Amino acid sequence: MNWFKHGGASKAASFVGGVEESPLQVVDKNFPTLRGHPKAREHAELAAQLPEKTTTEFRIYRWNPNEPRRKPFLQSFFVDLRTCGPMVLDALQKIKAEQDPSLSYRRSCREGICGSCSMNIDGNNTVACLKPVDADTSTATMITPLPHMFVIKDLVVDLTNFYRQHKLIEPWLKTKKPLEKGREYLQSPGERKKLDGLYECILCACCSTACPAYWWNQEAFLGPAALLHAYRWVSNSRDEYTKERIQGLTEDEDKLYRCRTIKHSSNSCLPEELRAKAISALRTVNANNFLP
Ligand code: SF4
Ligand code: FES
Repeated sequence: MNWFKHGGASKAASFVGGVEESPLQVVDKNFPTLRGHPKAREHAELAAQLPEKTTTEFRIYRWNPNEPRRKPFLQSFFVDLRTCGPMVLDALQKIKAEQDPSLSYRRSCREGICGSCSMNIDGNNTVACLKPVDADTSTATMITPLPHMFVIKDLVVDLTNFYRQHKLIEPWLKTKKPLEKGREYLQSPGERKKLDGLYECILCACCSTACPAYWWNQEAFLGPAALLHAYRWVSNSRDEYTKERIQGLTEDEDKLYRCRTIKHSSNSCLPEELRAKAISALRTVNANNFLP
């Protein structure tokens, strides 16, 4: 629900003491570091509106490895939005600080940069620090771990395989020629432009863990995030290991070809098309250059 559409601006103004203060001012005052982050700011502006009823329910997945006989369950927590920040991560922080310090989840930057607070919120994988609390307080917000992953505790999942796959694609520049002009490998603005959309990934794992092909073949298929990164280096004009990189991706065809173009990997960051295009482009590079 869009909080602006429900008259939230005037409610926010009255909440801040009768002074006509716009949602933008509220966000700027309370979250000055968001100024340089347009997407997070946009979300925060929406979340700065207050609904009629200010207490909302969060149903959160709980599982404790120290109680292995107890099945996972959903625990309800109630949070007063008047005393909580605008994002779901703010609500989790408040619950942990005031209600249950044993609640476990990852977080670090709280600005959509580190990728650590990824989880499933109301059915979608996303980073909690960029997800506004739902203005509709009549329904609970459901928070569960990233799907099809081994749970370590509560909302913390085991990302070992995800990071192993990222390492496998050798995410660094590899060259054969000595440095031009002694210091750096140069690239034209046009060549650099080709990398837009390929380097911004923050490794939150939202896309890979939402991808059915990855659920079914997590050990073999590298998944959309690792393949996006692989294409970043294959298409980088300064990298000279295209052949070896493609060989590495195709020595076991499941690594690349298990993608079925289902395009259900995530809408939480880059447009889904970009990941699909990257995977398709890797296959094209292989077909045009290295297949007999
Ligand atoms: S490409 Fe995937 S892993 Fe990277 S930021 Fe986007 S959703 Fe997260
Ligand atoms: S805490 Fe860093 S992306 Fe959410």
